[in-house]
Amino acid sequence: MSVLTEKVMMRDWARAGQNTLSVYKQHGGYAQAKKALELSPPQIIDEVKKSQLRGRGGAGFPTGLKWSFVPSIDKNPKPRYLAINADESEPGTAKDRFILENDPHLLLEGIAIACYALNAHTCYIYSRGEFKYPSSVLDKAIADAYADGIFGKKLLGKDFELNVYQVRGAGAYICGEETALLESLEGKKGWPRLKPPFPAVVGLFGCPTVVNNVETIAALPRIFEKGAQWFSDLGLGKSGGTRLVTLSGTVNQPGTYEVAMNTTMKELIFEKEYGNGLPEGRSVKAVIPGGSSAPVLTADELDVKLEFDAFKPLQSMAGSGGIIVMDDTTCMVRCLWRVARFYAEESCGQCTPCREGQPWMTRLLRKIEEGRGTEEDLETLTNVAQAIAPWPPIGLGNTICALGDAGALPVQSFVQKFKKDFLDHISLKRCPYGDKPWGALGEFR
Ligand SMILES: Cc1cc2nc3c(=O)[nH]c(=O)nc-3n(C[C@H](O)[C@H](O)[C@H](O)COP(=O)(O)O)c2cc1C
Ligand code: SF4
Repeated sequence: MSVLTEKVMMRDWARAGQNTLSVYKQHGGYAQAKKALELSPPQIIDEVKKSQLRGRGGAGFPTGLKWSFVPSIDKNPKPRYLAINADESEPGTAKDRFILENDPHLLLEGIAIACYALNAHTCYIYSRGEFKYPSSVLDKAIADAYADGIFGKKLLGKDFELNVYQVRGAGAYICGEETALLESLEGKKGWPRLKPPFPAVVGLFGCPTVVNNVETIAALPRIFEKGAQWFSDLGLGKSGGTRLVTLSGTVNQPGTYEVAMNTTMKELIFEKEYGNGLPEGRSVKAVIPGGSSAPVLTADELDVKLEFDAFKPLQSMAGSGGIIVMDDTTCMVRCLWRVARFYAEESCGQCTPCREGQPWMTRLLRKIEEGRGTEEDLETLTNVAQAIAPWPPIGLGNTICALGDAGALPVQSFVQKFKKDFLDHISLKRCPYGDKPWGALGEFR
């Protein structure tokens, strides 16, 4: 059994006052940044590469490699920026908010290391509009870091100016997409940009910019505390470190957990340290493994390890670590309808396949769920999804940003893996799972 014996990211969350600067410093806080600042920026980037740290925001992209795409000052003398993605809006995901609430200086210390490595003198932390409490904790942490001389003209006493600002979003899921986030930071409507150019070359205000997730950057102090090799060895394959995952749905103990990369989905759901199984008499029907945009898994696919690359053979992804367990009483049509409704609502409307396709899929799913659907509707549903993003997923959709894929790939996976549910609705001309209370669905029924 692969239960994590030593917490890395959540290690200090239970300590009273951990979110204050004084307690953080009492226990060695900012010592790792001081240590890292003795290295040269290329040396820091090499350490991050060696650690096999991968982005925790969704795509699992190698962090050190992303940093190395920032052009050298001789090639591009413009200022550099670091943007921290604290938008955390992927349904089923709640981990970054707990870093902000419980250990904000861990993130700020990571920012000090990253900005020095990237030669960035300004960092913006873009936080989800609804994060009232986490944002207030972060604001205080930033103010305390300035008052203590950590940030400002001399970063930790070094001749390097660093200014850090928190910018609150306004509740749009699309602003978590990195280029929409940059547009929003520039004070514009959060519309994703066409890539290339990628933000590392042309980002905020047209300058080289690295966008990283909160958990990604908060891992840096640990890497410089115990070494890149230690961090890499903690992980599995090409994924260094541990992962924070959010377990929800039909499990006895939902919550945010830190897991080893070799922990399996089954262990996460059933071990008493984590989900502790399902309520009596229930069994797993399906699992969404990485936030609602990740293609669904069946009960036969739970031996998958929670490491980034392990999901590829199952045509799914580790995503943002939002793991949603559905039991045998779940209607997959109704569930997919709910998911589709979300993406239709959140599409920014720039590209036709996404703008028209997501609401179209939502209408078709409603029709099938209400017993009015036909087999032709089911075929149209998968054709519309295919027009947004090809299935099986090849990593390149037909739209400007990956929200298109996020809406289309779940549709394909639900229909492919749970076709019987769809066909039963069509032949019975009703939902076979009975008339359940509509809950959150009620508002748009
Ligand atoms: C529609 C959409 C929403 C996203 N939302 C988030 C988010 O809330 N938080 C996040 O870190 N990344 C989000 N991402 C991924 C970011 O675009 C980006 O890949 C990530 O912030 C990079 O950080 P990382 O390399 O540290 O993972 C989203 C992507 C898309 C397409
Ligand atoms: S895929 Fe959707 S959300 Fe992304 S840019 Fe196009 S319309 Fe906007």
